[in-house]
Amino acid sequence: MDLTLTDEQLSFQKLAREFLDREVVPHRMEWDRAESVDPAIVPKLAELGFFGLTIPEEYGGVAGDYITYCLGMEELGRADSSVRGIVSVSMGLVGKPILGFGTEEQKQDWLRRIATGTATGCFALTEPDIGSDASNLTTKAVRQGDEYVIDGQKIFITNGTWADVCVVFARTGGPGPKGISAFLVPTDTPGFERREIKGKLGLRGQATCEIFLTGVRVPASAMLGQEGQGFKIAMYSLDRGRVSMAAGCVGIICGCLDAVVAYSKERHQFGRPLASFQMIQDMIAEMSVDADAARLLAWRAADLLQRGEPFGVEASKAKYFASEAAVRASNLAIQAFGGYGYIDEYPVAKFMRDARVTTLYEGTSQIQKLLIGRAETGVSAFV
Ligand code: CAA
Repeated sequence: MDLTLTDEQLSFQKLAREFLDREVVPHRMEWDRAESVDPAIVPKLAELGFFGLTIPEEYGGVAGDYITYCLGMEELGRADSSVRGIVSVSMGLVGKPILGFGTEEQKQDWLRRIATGTATGCFALTEPDIGSDASNLTTKAVRQGDEYVIDGQKIFITNGTWADVCVVFARTGGPGPKGISAFLVPTDTPGFERREIKGKLGLRGQATCEIFLTGVRVPASAMLGQEGQGFKIAMYSLDRGRVSMAAGCVGIICGCLDAVVAYSKERHQFGRPLASFQMIQDMIAEMSVDADAARLLAWRAADLLQRGEPFGVEASKAKYFASEAAVRASNLAIQAFGGYGYIDEYPVAKFMRDARVTTLYEGTSQIQKLLIGRAETGVSAFV
């Protein structure tokens, strides 16, 4: 793996940071308090190509490689994880499986719209009683002539109330992973109801919702991939999502590091700057090493993905390490800021609230460890 960034990668990183520093960072606290990002940010992000990263130009994307993709997610994580989630879920968890499994018609329709930011998507796997145990989901899709009728309930769906299309995972066959299929459901289909979940600890600017599916009718052509392929499609999407999440967490760690470094130089106690205290430098060193280690793990997974090699376990390692490190870094940042870290005058409290969910969604730390443990031992702890 060559760690030297190309001129194109560096120029995208610079452009992304300048854009986010101008269009997102000044507004993130106000969006956090209002519990909604301004939707006007979506076309602006699209203009810069965020929604089209790694998507071929023939489907409206801007192509680019997976390291550039990680750079984009890192910058978004540093700026505002709520905004990162909008891009990461729409392009990553919805656009990517359409690219991987969709028909030419689905690619020309939904993928093109997602890649150009003219539509957003959401990914509906989790149910009120089914989280980590995804292969036992209970939402049903029953074939009636040329249609499927979908009934069930989903929860914790990022972008839920914003999305134009939802990848719904539903049972079309017997129990277990092989009985699951995926469908591209337009969110204005009758019977598709959404309710936003308010009062989240973090990611407040991002619309997270419950979805109620009651007699939702879609044509058979709305199926993504083959009947019974839904679980594989979900895992395919989450493997890629975990690389994106890891890179986003690197952004959180770097955001914390930047904030603590700047504050430790300006704040004085005992007649000298905080930066001169060994225990503050210890915290800064922890964050700095974690940022590098998490970035290298994310880039290794991205590099394997780029080269078409198996990368799932590496994605789990990256997601596990980076998310736990983001929680550690934001916690340390609050400690370094003292009382000022506990209020929202500085960004570190928001970093901590946003970081907390990263060890939960797109596969908990425990699930990542079991996937890593299974790869090491050849023994599955899931049965
Ligand atoms: N890629 C492709 N196929 C895969 C795969 C992968 N990464 N992982 C498993 N499969 C296939 C297997 O090969 C197997 O098929 P075959 O029998 O044909 O070989 C089938 O899927 C079943 O595999 P497992 O036996 O490994 O499945 P399992 O039932 O033991 O489950 C699990 C494994 C890892 C626990 C899985 O259920 C899992 O990842 N759970 C976590 C779910 C999760 O991350 N949820 C987050 C939802 S999204 C979200 O957070 C909200 C949001 O809005 C972002």
